Amino acid sequence: MNQSETPVLDALLAYHEHAYTPFTPPGHKQGRGIDAHTMAVLGPAVFASDVLAVSGLDDRMSRGAVLDRAQQLMAEAVHAEHTFFSTCGSSLSVKSAMLAVAGPHEKLVISRDAHKSVVSGLILSGVRPIWVDPTWDPDLHLAHPPQPDAYAEAFTAHPDARGALVTSPTPYGTCADIAAIAQVCHRYSRPLIVDEAWGAHLPFHPALPTWAMDAGADVCVTSAHKMGGGLEQSSVFHHQGNLVDPDVLRARADLLGTTSPSALIYAALDGWRAHMAASGHALLDAALARAHHVRDAVEKVDGLRVNRAEFIAPGRAYDLDPLQVIIDISALGTTGYAITDWLRERHRINLHVADHRRISAQLTYADDDATTARLLDALRDVADQFGSTASKDTGIRIPDPQEMRLEQAQLPRDAFFARTRQLPAHETVGQVCAEMLTPYPPGIPAVLPGERLTAPIIEYLTSGVGAGMVVPDAVDPELGTIRVVDEEPND
Ligand SMILES: Cc1ncc(COP(=O)(O)O)c(C=O)c1O
Repeated sequence: MNQSETPVLDALLAYHEHAYTPFTPPGHKQGRGIDAHTMAVLGPAVFASDVLAVSGLDDRMSRGAVLDRAQQLMAEAVHAEHTFFSTCGSSLSVKSAMLAVAGPHEKLVISRDAHKSVVSGLILSGVRPIWVDPTWDPDLHLAHPPQPDAYAEAFTAHPDARGALVTSPTPYGTCADIAAIAQVCHRYSRPLIVDEAWGAHLPFHPALPTWAMDAGADVCVTSAHKMGGGLEQSSVFHHQGNLVDPDVLRARADLLGTTSPSALIYAALDGWRAHMAASGHALLDAALARAHHVRDAVEKVDGLRVNRAEFIAPGRAYDLDPLQVIIDISALGTTGYAITDWLRERHRINLHVADHRRISAQLTYADDDATTARLLDALRDVADQFGSTASKDTGIRIPDPQEMRLEQAQLPRDAFFARTRQLPAHETVGQVCAEMLTPYPPGIPAVLPGERLTAPIIEYLTSGVGAGMVVPDAVDPELGTIRVVDEEPND
């Protein structure tokens, strides 16, 4: 195929050139109904290109095959057999993938460091999770993706599991040995889904961690808006092989998706794919060099330490995306939350993941010398400010790795839809949780529905919230109270 083609962008141009007059949604009618203030802030182009996909971008029967061709071009560019665009984020795509592999009460082997959207998928579907432990780093208090052996053990114990799911890269950029995990799954003729939300850029440069399609995964899900140039909410999932039926995958996505996809999102995806096909290698070359320079410069700042070697040491992660610059700030005696807030307020800089001892700066192909210089100036200022006022106890009580893993007493779906009570947090020890408690970002639930609460995990979350951790999905985000199952079933 000719990767310089851009079917969606071309269809949008043609739509403008032919001056179509819509008697369809969207009701703003290409901006005619938009007030001056909204138009001044958002700009006319946003509304002009916000058109219906069917009877807008393409005709009533999609005879122009606009979207099909754009998806085929993307599939070819990233070495997949089929590609599906979604305008509902990877939060939806990952559920579509899960539902294409397992149905209600069937088993799916999943790493316990899964994103909350995977847990939502379990709640909605009633799929039974067979949890695989991540690789814990007890010194740095961080979970990396599980080892392939952990998947092998899960399949030995549960040969009836319908497939497996692994998150790689994690929001910290650490990666699983996808090829080895895929081999484990394929020994049982079961498919591997990779939640590669953070990996949209991986197919476009060989020095980046292995791309799931190249490593033999059956389905992978990417958020093109995270590390790529897609608009927010754009997600793309890819498929290959015969362990998952692409028609089933399409039907599951159709079940969950919107009937009003955004042509803006499709168009930006189409343009980004053509851009990457033409220049991705060179752009990512430059980004990798820039990331290298940033890491070296941060290392020279007293009190800051860039995590790299310790993340990919033996028995830790298999690989690391160098564009995620993860900085340990524990020597400054404060939390990543405090530093992130301070950088936004003082330097107008927004960081990505912040936790009790780390901050992270996500670099992409779109950064340049000016953005990274601002980042480095701000980080030097952080070290000056916090280095001098350091108080050593952040107040957060971090459990041991084994204390982080809770007993799954009920299916996530059963606990979520059970009769519930809202109890003071300190009275919930031993109770079955009925909600997700997810420090955000990165969005990995510390507790999920059906897990039995323990004193260390409650202490971790409540002390964390006291120190600036955000747990937005809890009914009571202050965690003064927690929602638990009212009655446990007898079986
Ligand atoms: C690992 C992982 N999977 C899935 C998602 C959901 O992606 P989206 O924000 O595109 O819905 C995220 C979001 O942060 C994530 O970190």
